[in-house]
Amino acid sequence: MEKKIAVLPGDGIGPEVMEGALKVLSFIGDRFKHSFKSEKGLIGGAAIDAEGTPLPEKTVDLCQSSDAVLLGAVGGPKWDQNPAHLRPEKGLLGIRKALGLFANLRPVTLQPALIEASSLKPSIIEKVDLMIVRELTGGIYFGEPSGMVDDETVVDTLRYTKGEIERVVRTAFELARKRRNKLTSVDKANVLSSSKVWRQIVDEVAKEYPDVTVSHQLVDSAAMKLIQDPSQFDVMVMENLFGDILSDEASMLTGSLGMLPSASLRSDSFGLYEPVHGSAPDIAGQNKANPLAMLLSVSMMLRYSFQMVQEAEVIEAAINQVLQEGYRTFDLYQGVGTRLGTTEMIQQILSVIDQQLVGSN
Ligand code: NAD
Ligand code: IPM
Ligand code: MN
Repeated sequence: MEKKIAVLPGDGIGPEVMEGALKVLSFIGDRFKHSFKSEKGLIGGAAIDAEGTPLPEKTVDLCQSSDAVLLGAVGGPKWDQNPAHLRPEKGLLGIRKALGLFANLRPVTLQPALIEASSLKPSIIEKVDLMIVRELTGGIYFGEPSGMVDDETVVDTLRYTKGEIERVVRTAFELARKRRNKLTSVDKANVLSSSKVWRQIVDEVAKEYPDVTVSHQLVDSAAMKLIQDPSQFDVMVMENLFGDILSDEASMLTGSLGMLPSASLRSDSFGLYEPVHGSAPDIAGQNKANPLAMLLSVSMMLRYSFQMVQEAEVIEAAINQVLQEGYRTFDLYQGVGTRLGTTEMIQQILSVIDQQLVGSN
């Protein structure tokens, strides 16, 4: 199969984890006889420096003419004092909006080898397997007005149309059906009007999915339950900002933020795939970043946009094996096993994939 992939490495550790992930993708492409044609584009701070804007039109065009997008991370201290329209994060929000990617899937899956890497007890996390569905192109991130409305007053607006809520809720129900038929809708319906309507829409859509068990959970207690008893959750659906916060929290169930991938989807097979983590300025340029969240994002791309399930499974199995063999990037290393840099971790993955594919031929 031939696929065109827009590659947006971004800033900080973004280019470092992207380089490794592309090596694995090209290896998979060779072995499975696919032609993955990747083309690089600028986004975030790198785009501000080169083009004076965090999201050049060329980048949007490149993504729109591709079958999928891979993104590293954006942001960093160099641009933190810039005015709002010249912040790297504007580029990321802009590309999600421009491409209409309203459903952000953030799977939280525990690798058995990492059970000791979490700061929580093994008995609490051993059965963790949940999927956060974060609404991505609406809510408080995008509502107008936003900013100073007079000399004294600053505003952010949480705004949704019913249609925006319904489409992401439907995505979550469909996913629940393919998993353990359990959906938790997270909101703040005891305070926010938008959450009250969100809850009504969930209940209406639920009538079409009698096989899915639905519950509503207020966001503050959901944050608590994620730590207290995370295995009770299957699919969780929520507003943009709630999803941003709860997914970083949930990442620690897996041992590290460096393990969490994501897929940003719409109603067709197109998607943007990126790790949940940011540009990690504290470790950038030191060959220390964990590339597995980026690599798992590549595997989500193969699965969700290209229906290449076997290829995705090869990557996932290799990650599992390398971790079982005790290899760890520094974020996961706890004094046992072998500590590897970013590039060495990718080398281990490549050699395991090589062995696996020889074994299966
Ligand atoms: P961050 O996710 O970049 O880092 C948080 C902590 O996790 C840091 O200690 C970092 O070293 C560690 N970490 C993150 N990814 C890691 C990896 N792959 N391997 C090992 N350790 C990893 O969040 P932050 O420090 O709050 O933000 C830094 C910058 O990144 C900011 O400019 C922020 O806006 C941006 N950001 C971008 C994205 C994105 O592009 N999707 C996401 C979050 C934050
Ligand atoms: C994420 C990030 C972004 C977000 C920032 C960098 C705009 O934190 O992808 O989780 O808040 O969506
Ligand atoms: Mn975030």
